Amino acid sequence: MSFKVQVEPSGHEFSVESGERILDAAVRQGINLPYGCRNGFCGDCQASLTKGSVDYPDGIPPVMADNSEGICYTCQAVPASDLAIEVVEIARSKDIPIRTMPCKVDRIERLNEDVIRLYLKLPEGERLQFLAGQYLNFILKDGSKRAFSIANAPHDDDFIELHIRHVSGGLFTDLLFSGMEEKTIMRIEAPLGSYYLREESTKPIILMGGGTGFAPLKGIIEHAFQIGIQRPMHLYWGVRSRSDLYLPELPQRWAAEHANFNYIPVLSEPDDDWRGRKGWVHEAVIADHPDLSDHEVYMSGPPPMIEAGKKVFLSHGLAGEELYSDSFEYGAAAAKQKTGT
Ligand SMILES: Cc1cc2nc3c(=O)[nH]c(=O)nc-3n(C[C@H](O)[C@H](O)[C@H](O)COP(=O)(O)OP(=O)(O)OC[C@H]3O[C@@H](n4cnc5c(N)ncnc54)[C@H](O)[C@@H]3O)c2cc1C
Ligand code: FES
Repeated sequence: MSFKVQVEPSGHEFSVESGERILDAAVRQGINLPYGCRNGFCGDCQASLTKGSVDYPDGIPPVMADNSEGICYTCQAVPASDLAIEVVEIARSKDIPIRTMPCKVDRIERLNEDVIRLYLKLPEGERLQFLAGQYLNFILKDGSKRAFSIANAPHDDDFIELHIRHVSGGLFTDLLFSGMEEKTIMRIEAPLGSYYLREESTKPIILMGGGTGFAPLKGIIEHAFQIGIQRPMHLYWGVRSRSDLYLPELPQRWAAEHANFNYIPVLSEPDDDWRGRKGWVHEAVIADHPDLSDHEVYMSGPPPMIEAGKKVFLSHGLAGEELYSDSFEYGAAAAKQKTGT
């Protein structure tokens, strides 16, 4: 048995399975209700209950005061009937408070010579609210910060997934690649940045990633599939050689499963037997889409790619406000500069 939840003022509606918490169901279906701790302590998930009733299977949440009539805490509440709730959904990055918290390195997966996939686990009962495509900062022991994009989508938030490229001589990535151990405790601040999917647009989407610039695009694409976006999506992944496509099967699978998704890998230093696209990734985009006046573009990766992309795309009709990017600058200065953007 399931119940319907109507959200005002957005008018969104979603279903909640029997025994499921309202917030879990919303996250699963890509509805951005606000939340913080997700364990009944902070009160950030508070909503007005304007129709129906709820139960709290684990008992009244600690945050709930005696006079909380007409209020429900969606992270703990389970519907006892169809509901109408009033709560302002998260629509922009500014709506989510930036938090500093500890996390544990849960798994380290070597994807190729110089890319590691890192899974982070937050303390028991904690989840990070973020928009698909945002990034976090590691706060290192010396207080400096290193930025990495979140590669998972918000509905799949048991872990925070990062794709990290080795920068030879880099303080943090040298440490990681020289044998950082699972269970290491790190400090992060998150979520950061204004690079996230604009869900309200109806325009076809071009996603261009250079190297690990694929990471935030993975989050954006998985979120778009989750909420059922039907707009055409074209992913261009630019790397040097085939081995740099560090998750080669994933975008192929997306293309096989979703008629509105199209994947074009582009190699700048192609292997001899490469039969696919060659050259600079932004040039491949323009060759396929010479008129960008009716598109939205998301691009992430090395600064030279971002600079080249900006210049060329704007000169091919792309409106400035339809261009979203995260330039992967190096070092502490870049991370500091971007905090809170
Ligand atoms: C918003 C944002 C999101 C990011 N997301 C990701 C991500 O998802 N994955 C990812 O792999 N990286 C990402 N980066 C880049 C990442 O933050 C840097 O690579 C980071 O500085 C590496 O940390 P480090 O301590 O190993 O190197 P640092 O100690 O920061 O770098 C060492 C020194 O080497 C220089 N340097 C080293 N290599 C180069 C190079 N190739 N070109 C220019 N200068 C160089 C730097 O200027 C610096 O002085 C992101 C950056 C930003 C700003
Ligand atoms: S998210 Fe903290 S009380 Fe619900």
